[in-house]
Amino acid sequence: MERPADFRSDTVTRPSAAMRRAMAEAEVGDDVLDGDPTVAKLESVGARWLGVEGTLFVPSGTMANQIAIGVHTRHGDEVILEADAHVLRFEAGAMGALHGVQTVTLKGRRGALDPDEVRRTVRPNFVHCPRTALLCLEQTHMGSGGRVVPLDAFAAAARAGREAGIAVHLDGARLANAVAKSGVPAPVWTKEVDSVSLCLSKGLGAPVGSLVGGSRAFLERARTLRKRFGGWMRQSGILGAAGLMALEQNVERLGDDHQLAQDLARALSEVPGLEVDPADVETNLVLVRVRHRRHSAASLSAALAERGVRVMALGPDHLRFVTHMDVDRSHVERAAAACLELLRS
Ligand SMILES: Cc1ncc(COP(=O)(O)O)c(C=O)c1O
Repeated sequence: MERPADFRSDTVTRPSAAMRRAMAEAEVGDDVLDGDPTVAKLESVGARWLGVEGTLFVPSGTMANQIAIGVHTRHGDEVILEADAHVLRFEAGAMGALHGVQTVTLKGRRGALDPDEVRRTVRPNFVHCPRTALLCLEQTHMGSGGRVVPLDAFAAAARAGREAGIAVHLDGARLANAVAKSGVPAPVWTKEVDSVSLCLSKGLGAPVGSLVGGSRAFLERARTLRKRFGGWMRQSGILGAAGLMALEQNVERLGDDHQLAQDLARALSEVPGLEVDPADVETNLVLVRVRHRRHSAASLSAALAERGVRVMALGPDHLRFVTHMDVDRSHVERAAAACLELLRS
């Protein structure tokens, strides 16, 4: 049977034969006892790529973000976030559950926060107020459909936070997509923040793993939290080898995913009952509005699955398509044809 066209997420990629070979051949050690050489190499290559003093290898983007939030905050603090931030919406309430912090959300414009609003939101140093400890940014911004927040807007929001005396964390799960799209290297983004996470298992194609990075002082505290969360692994060079290959070989090719997302958006924009403007698609996420008398996003997603096209329904009337290294032009054509067949009448 034909492989389904799986557009649900860029996390669905399978390691290539070369990546599996690198994993099998990885030199390993006990990373907790006396170090794993492959993980050590990944952490230092990752630090260089990100432009930070060091990084830690952890199992997931969620753990990377939550370690950073834990380093920057203490119970009772407040965190400023964009209203659609992944750490707020999709990390199972971890900020409250693990760190006892409360949140204040700002509505962004295409993912970008207004620096004046950031400034105004930082609480005064007053006994009745919580301490504002942290601003969380996200790049690319998933909630706005994978947009790259432009560097000047990104830097303005981050500087507003830092000038007000609070730390800034970047959820850079898809920072590599922003780098590939903008041509702006990662260190230029990360010099504006105090910590950063980067997922190796999304568009970069590793099966598992993320990095969390920052200064030496940040890493000292982050190491304790990685241990406390149970995220410090043993012969993890087997996974680290995949992460290394992902970071060293798969950043540039993200441009292909972005082009495919453009092609998909263009094809879907011609399907009656679907609304998407290809000009809104900047990286590998395509958000499509379903406006059809017989189909909701969920029913269309179910009907597409029967035709070998897998997509995610987000809310009652939006579908999310994500391009990645395991989909190609034939999958785009299949998705567009299936949508046309289901929605034409
Ligand atoms: C923007 C963003 N941040 C963080 C994460 C969390 O990554 P993980 O699923 O590895 O925990 C995701 C996952 O989709 C994400 O899209």
